[in-house]
Amino acid sequence: MTRTEPQPGEGQIGEVLIGSEELQRRVSELGAEISRDYEDGVLLIGILKGAVLFLADLMRCLRIPCEIDFIAVSSYGSATDSSGVVRILKDLESSIEGRDVLIVEDIIDSGLTLHYLIRNLRARGPRSLEVCALLDKPERRRVDLPIRYVGFEIPDRFVIGYGLDYGQRFRNLDYVAVLAEEDDERA
Ligand code: IMP
Ligand code: MG
Repeated sequence: MTRTEPQPGEGQIGEVLIGSEELQRRVSELGAEISRDYEDGVLLIGILKGAVLFLADLMRCLRIPCEIDFIAVSSYGSATDSSGVVRILKDLESSIEGRDVLIVEDIIDSGLTLHYLIRNLRARGPRSLEVCALLDKPERRRVDLPIRYVGFEIPDRFVIGYGLDYGQRFRNLDYVAVLAEEDDERA
């Protein structure tokens, strides 16, 4: 269901890149794939806040025992660029030692945030540690990352919706759109 009523700030919502049905279809494919790969169960770690919608939909598509936990990080930088300097704002509640862990992330851009997180979580001794990202912007990658599951590869545009924000807004859209202001800024 796509929202039809105008919302404040709607002028900032640009071209729709991935519609709601396409998102749901791909999420259920990922869920089926993950269910096949983790027959014994998995611990999903959602990266707050962007991964919340994706994680909620993804876990509904899993047919295996699954637990969830969350970690919140801040990466210093501007509203549209991360710097790679990462701070943990909220840590996991439980130990991941010996567990099969799947990090659930909204989008991988430079990869710096995830690079830091993977190093940090690996040090806690999980049995396995993989990444599932809804979106991937491969053109922007600055570090090499092993990403086991990717929903969609997208071009180098700043996107909003389905968990992704611009200045904390637009996370509630049930589709992924380009931030319209980007066109003005980069023109
Ligand atoms: P990275 O460290 O450059 O890979 O940045 C990762 C984080 O930056 C993501 O988890 C998002 O929170 C944010 N981010 C990167 N690209 C976008 C975008 O296009 N829209 C919204 N947030 C983004
Ligand atoms: Mg994020």
